[in-house]
Amino acid sequence: MHAITTEQEASLVRAALDVRSNAYAPFSEFRVGAAVLDDLGRVHAGTNVENSSFGLTICAERVAATRAISDGAKAIVAVAVATSPLANPCGACRQFLYEFGPQMRVLIIDSDSGEVERRTVLAELLPGGFRLTN
Ligand code: THU
Repeated sequence: MHAITTEQEASLVRAALDVRSNAYAPFSEFRVGAAVLDDLGRVHAGTNVENSSFGLTICAERVAATRAISDGAKAIVAVAVATSPLANPCGACRQFLYEFGPQMRVLIIDSDSGEVERRTVLAELLPGGFRLTN
């Protein structure tokens, strides 16, 4: 498991909570804020972005991850997800994130209290995740 500092965790949690207000979720009204910590120590945030053609909706975790990779990240060390009520990353996001760090820390945040309610590791949420490469 990658270790992250208390300061890094605090920045990640803050970013997930803050970005959640930008969620575009007029259909579900379920707002999700996500933030990832990359291998360079940078934080990248993302929200869910829904669409009138429902199947085109993108989850917050995947937006945050694609922002990180687009900005040059090679791996993701931790991800934080803020919702109310509390929610775990969906199966598709687990697999998407797995590509960039099976051992990444996962922080599940209650956006009402701002507290981290659950700390785990991606490989525990997705045992036997798929990868074409090591
Ligand atoms: N959603 C996420 O952003 N992340 C997840 O891991 C699960 C679901 C979003 C998609 C949709 O906009 C809303 O939550 C309800 O499913």
